[in-house]
Amino acid sequence: MAKPAPSIAETPAWKALQEHVVDIEQTHLRDLLSDQQRCEALIKEDLGLYLDLSRQRVNQTTLKLLMDLAEASQLRSKVEAMFRGERINETEDRAVLHVATRARRDQVITEGGKNVVPEVWEVLDKIKGFADKVRGGGWVGVTGKPLTNVVAVGIGGSFLGPLFVHTALSTEPRAMASSRGRELRFLANVDPIDVATALQGLDPETTLVVIISKTFTTAETMLNARTCRAWLTAQLGPESVAKHMVAVSTNLKLVEEFGIDPVNAFGFWDWVGGRFSVCSAVGVLPLTLQYGWDVMARFLAGANAMDDHFRNAPLESNLPVLMGLVSVWNISFMGLPARALLPYCQALSKLAPHIQQVSMESNGKGVDIKGKPLPFEAGEIDFGEPGTNGQHSFYQLIHQGRVIPCDFIGIVRSQQSVYLKGETVSNHDELMCNFFAQATSLELRSASVPDHLVPHKVFTGNRPSLSLLLPELNAYTVGQLLALYEHQVAVQGFVWNINSFDQWGVELGKVLASKLRTKIAEARTNSRFMAGSDGLNYSTTRMVN
Ligand code: F6P
Repeated sequence: MAKPAPSIAETPAWKALQEHVVDIEQTHLRDLLSDQQRCEALIKEDLGLYLDLSRQRVNQTTLKLLMDLAEASQLRSKVEAMFRGERINETEDRAVLHVATRARRDQVITEGGKNVVPEVWEVLDKIKGFADKVRGGGWVGVTGKPLTNVVAVGIGGSFLGPLFVHTALSTEPRAMASSRGRELRFLANVDPIDVATALQGLDPETTLVVIISKTFTTAETMLNARTCRAWLTAQLGPESVAKHMVAVSTNLKLVEEFGIDPVNAFGFWDWVGGRFSVCSAVGVLPLTLQYGWDVMARFLAGANAMDDHFRNAPLESNLPVLMGLVSVWNISFMGLPARALLPYCQALSKLAPHIQQVSMESNGKGVDIKGKPLPFEAGEIDFGEPGTNGQHSFYQLIHQGRVIPCDFIGIVRSQQSVYLKGETVSNHDELMCNFFAQATSLELRSASVPDHLVPHKVFTGNRPSLSLLLPELNAYTVGQLLALYEHQVAVQGFVWNINSFDQWGVELGKVLASKLRTKIAEARTNSRFMAGSDGLNYSTTRMVN
């Protein structure tokens, strides 16, 4: 029998990095930053993006050792295996091909020996045709009125990514122009409050409901779908479903059973993971209905450009690879498991909620790809808020409390321009002054205060961050940004040698919720307290009752 492959933590590359921590710990970030050559080596410009890693606690030796780690973990061949459609999601026996959902029409990406790009474009063409009709008034509601409002019903990966992109585009001038007179809302939570918020003020006669669920079995989404159907049919009759409800799913059989004509369903494939599905019909259908095809084509092209870069650029200048390796350095070697996502752009307010799922659902794992317990903790704790709002909330902890590596994301030209007469700088300049100042303040050691306040006002600095600058925030760069973070997360998982593409942990909660649903329904029907047992302990039973 073949000997099991050693864990990545047993390789010389891992051990060399562990030893290297001592060197780095002796060097203050302020001193690292005084070395201009080092800084140059850590600033990368590609695809119109500017990535500055010079404020990370790394030097050229760290970079070299991280490259060795990439090699020891066979990062290159794992990335290739992903793009080649190999079944790298071993526990579900699936390929991981979200990159195919934004492939150019002439690209060839195969799964099981078949080029999947023509199928991808078949769905994209169908979306374009349908959205053109709805937006142009060729597809109207049962009472003949144009459908100007869309409610997208879905949760998790069938919600967070599309919401992120929608929020990023809703203030962008070209996208604003192409969505004039239209509204896109999301319904995710099964909480009746979310139902009320999503439907409030909407007229069923002018509303199209899009049910988005990869499996078409997710309890919350299916209950919300039934609620929306009842809302529509109560006013417009049962025949309204055909005109006012469409679906996005891999399970077209269940779509039909629900009562939606499969002709009005937009498919995707089991090789697209939920949290990686924004560029499939999951995101592209509702967003094309809102913004039109031209905007969404640019979004897909941006993500595709980042995919090409990820696959082909040398590791030393590969943006997602560098971001992934540096985050592994922080988490696994420097003992810094959290990361703050800090976009200085209000339109990126839903970046952190989306990346939380992409990162934590992917890499929150305790065993390696073969099921062997990991000898280290994988995964990253992600959170964030746009600047400057975050500065007035949790930055205190980042400055003088715990050390939390930060991703500062800035936009060179704002989507909007406000420059008040009499002010010395524009609003965007004011925002960017904070962007530059915050990264600087984390690196410095400073204290210039009266004696008794010194301990309170001392900043030890030495806190790592990276800065990422986008020329502007438009459909194309939103696509780039999305793919950049998706691939960064994949790099972490490839290095840790875990399966970033399954999510068995989430399933347990679903099973228990379902058990409780049965028991609570039973108790309500018989007007009695819920009985314990069946895996439900005293604490749960007592609280329910
Ligand atoms: O939250 C767990 C999860 O399984 C996610 O991975 C997925 O994105 C979400 O549920 C929704 O699943 P579906 O698209 O099948 O409704």
